[in-house]
Amino acid sequence: LNQLLFKDPTKPPMVFHYFPFFGSTIRYGMEPYVFFQDCQKKHGDVFTYIMLGRKMTACLGPKGNDFVFNGKLSDVSAEEAYSHLTTPVFGEGVVYDVPNNILMEQKKFMKFGLTVETFKAYVPLIVEQVEDLVKRSKYFKGPRGTAPLSNIIPELTLFTAARTLQGKEIRDALDGSFAGLFHDLDSGFTPTNFLFPWFPFPANKRRDHAQRTMAKFYMNIVKKRRAAAADGAEHSDMIWNLMDRTYKDGRKVSDRHVAHMMIALLMAGQHTSMATTTWILLHIADQPELVKELFAEQQRVFGKDLAPLAYEKLAECTLLNHVIRETLRIHPPLHSIMRKVKSPMHVTDTNFVIPAGHYILGAPGVSAMDEKYFKNPLAFDPFRWVGQGAEDEGEKIDFGFGMISKGTASPYLPFGAGRHRCIGEQFANVQLATILATWVRMFELGYPEGCGVPKPDYTSMIALPAQPSMISWIKRDP
Ligand code: HEM
Repeated sequence: LNQLLFKDPTKPPMVFHYFPFFGSTIRYGMEPYVFFQDCQKKHGDVFTYIMLGRKMTACLGPKGNDFVFNGKLSDVSAEEAYSHLTTPVFGEGVVYDVPNNILMEQKKFMKFGLTVETFKAYVPLIVEQVEDLVKRSKYFKGPRGTAPLSNIIPELTLFTAARTLQGKEIRDALDGSFAGLFHDLDSGFTPTNFLFPWFPFPANKRRDHAQRTMAKFYMNIVKKRRAAAADGAEHSDMIWNLMDRTYKDGRKVSDRHVAHMMIALLMAGQHTSMATTTWILLHIADQPELVKELFAEQQRVFGKDLAPLAYEKLAECTLLNHVIRETLRIHPPLHSIMRKVKSPMHVTDTNFVIPAGHYILGAPGVSAMDEKYFKNPLAFDPFRWVGQGAEDEGEKIDFGFGMISKGTASPYLPFGAGRHRCIGEQFANVQLATILATWVRMFELGYPEGCGVPKPDYTSMIALPAQPSMISWIKRDP
């Protein structure tokens, strides 16, 4: 009552809840976008809610995106928001288990392994993995049929990322015991882990065992590479790239930290690409005309006989790239970007001050689905991107509502912005474009009777389509 009568104008409005500790946990956890949009209607772009005792202040809209992504290092910390979830999975000494300046150096090291030269080599490797998986899969026997994407795509993105970024040893190991280890480690990336990361659940014990065993596996590869290097051999993959790096303070990156960075790359890319690939295929299956146009584009760019896919030519497949961009608009895999507040922060253009110890939360998916910025925002329409050019940071894009700067104050930021911006964006685009192009070269797509684009399921950490995500297919070349 006190709070109602003597409302403190420096505090953002508090979302109503019945139970003090639980607050809005269930509503937010089950349907984050419905929750955000309802609260936005009631309170505006800035409001506070309780999530299991934590005070979360959502900052929505392009200005909210800017506020969260552009937070100064002295004001906000990503590691204090994420570390309890990521460190048991990635391992110590990397990403959010180190001060921000070390993360920035590690990101730079990892980026050296993500060059145009490597992407060129990756395209045929990805094609090979997709074709091989389809050939072996029990779901693609005969000239036509149906297939549950929820069973197929996780393996598809894992194999393609493993064969490219991780190297042949890791891909081969996935046909053996490494697959089970990956699964156990992966099971450590759930909301339960987010809330109780160190609790000795059997799943957490399996996660820790998998982390240690996988790290050893990578460290053995590093050892072999060092021996090979002594003999003058040369490799050019990510492990090779990370092996001989030195921090600015003169410390060498240890073999263990190479292993942990490799695990971090695998995990960061797997869920995001898997969710995006599944949504892409679900949306094009819903518009058979679009599949036809995508196939026609392949023939236009690569010739009637469909020459092998090549990195340089993929950029010419405009519709293909617009389909990816539109999918990431409606289904950005990460719906919540969090930072812990370290010193009181004044929210731009408001009277609000967020105290230290609270969390701020950005949700660029809310602005990407707001009709203020995108006409008919819930429609899957890749053609809305026609004429929008490349997405380089700083570029101005006309979303149909005047020019909006692409910096951190953009309504469309599926890869984040600022110091924590994704380093995997180009790799993800190569992976997604190659998988999609290979897929439309092989199949016409649609839905079995009674099926359609499933609803998103937010109960894992990533916005995934509800299982089993059935589609129907007809082989072009049976
Ligand atoms: C950071 C999205 C794929 C590695 C991020 C962030 C977002 C994002 C939104 C910012 C997080 C924050 O500010 O808190 C995506 C999407 C992907 C994707 C939508 C695919 C469709 C990948 C891949 C890799 C990767 C393939 C690795 C090869 C990273 C890393 C960071 C990051 C290392 C930096 C974390 C930091 O600095 O705090 N990603 N990502 N991502 N991502 Fe990605």
